[in-house]
Amino acid sequence: YKRITVKSLVEMKANNEKISMLTAYDYTMARIVDAAGIDVILVGDSASNVMAGHETTLPITLDQMIYHASGVVRAIQRSLVVVDLPFGSYQSDPKEALRSAIRIMKESGGHAVKMEGGKEIKESIKRILHAGIPVMGHLGLTPQSIYKFGTYTVRAKEETEAQQLKDDAKMLEKCGCFAVVLEKVPAKLAKEVAESLTIPVIGIGAGSGVDGQVLVTHDMLGMTHEFNPRFLRRYLDLHTQMTEAFKQYSADVKAVDFPNEEEQY
Ligand code: KIV
Ligand code: NA
Repeated sequence: YKRITVKSLVEMKANNEKISMLTAYDYTMARIVDAAGIDVILVGDSASNVMAGHETTLPITLDQMIYHASGVVRAIQRSLVVVDLPFGSYQSDPKEALRSAIRIMKESGGHAVKMEGGKEIKESIKRILHAGIPVMGHLGLTPQSIYKFGTYTVRAKEETEAQQLKDDAKMLEKCGCFAVVLEKVPAKLAKEVAESLTIPVIGIGAGSGVDGQVLVTHDMLGMTHEFNPRFLRRYLDLHTQMTEAFKQYSADVKAVDFPNEEEQY
C-alpha cells in the first residue's frame, strides 16, 4: 500500500476526492479499518466514552491516549493515524502543549495530533507545528468544552459564532494545520468554510459540502444503540447481532452443546 500522508489529504481535496475517516482505539479494530481502505484513523478522545464509559471526554489522560494510539499504530499499513490531545494536556500553555504532542509522537508512533479550539490555542498550535508535528484542528462542537456549552446541540447557528468559526478556520489554515474537523454545525456554514480553505475540512454532522466525513466506528457499527443523533448512519446493527451471539453461546454452554466432538482435543 501507498501510505496516506498529510500531503496526500491536501492533494485529495485539490483533486475533488473525498476523504474517509473513522475512529479506532485498539489494534484489532484498527487492522480492519486500515485494511478496508479508510484514509484516516482517528484515535479520538471519544475513547473516554466508548472504551471507558465516562459521560464526557474530559477524564481520559495523555497516558491512556498513548496506550490506545500505540495499539492502533501497530496495526496499520496505509491509513494516516491522528491522535487527539486530551483535555488538560495542552490548554495551560504552549510549552505544555508541545511536551504533550511530543509524547504522543514518540511513545505511540502516531502521525499527527488533533486539538480542539481556535484563536485561544493559536500559540500552542504554532509551537507544535514548529516542532514538525502535523496538527488537525477541530471547531464547532468541541466536546472538551461541554461544560461551557452546556449541551451537545448544533453550534454556530447564529451569525457571531458562525463568523468566529470562519475566522478560526482561516487562522488554522494560515498557521499550517493540514486539515480541520467541523463537528455539528449547519451544512451551509460547513460548505462555505470548506470552499474558503485549501486544506480539507472533515465533517461530522456538518453535511455533504465538506471534503470528507468522520464517524465514531462503534456508532456506525450499531454497537452504541442508545446514541441516536440525526447525523449518524448505522451500517450494521452489531448491538443486536452481538447480543444474539452471546445469548446463543450461553445457551450452548448450559446445554453442553458447546464444545462438541470436533471442538476438543
Ligand atoms: O474523539 C472523536 O471521536 C472525535 C471525532 C468525533 C471527530 O473527535
Ligand atoms: Na475528540
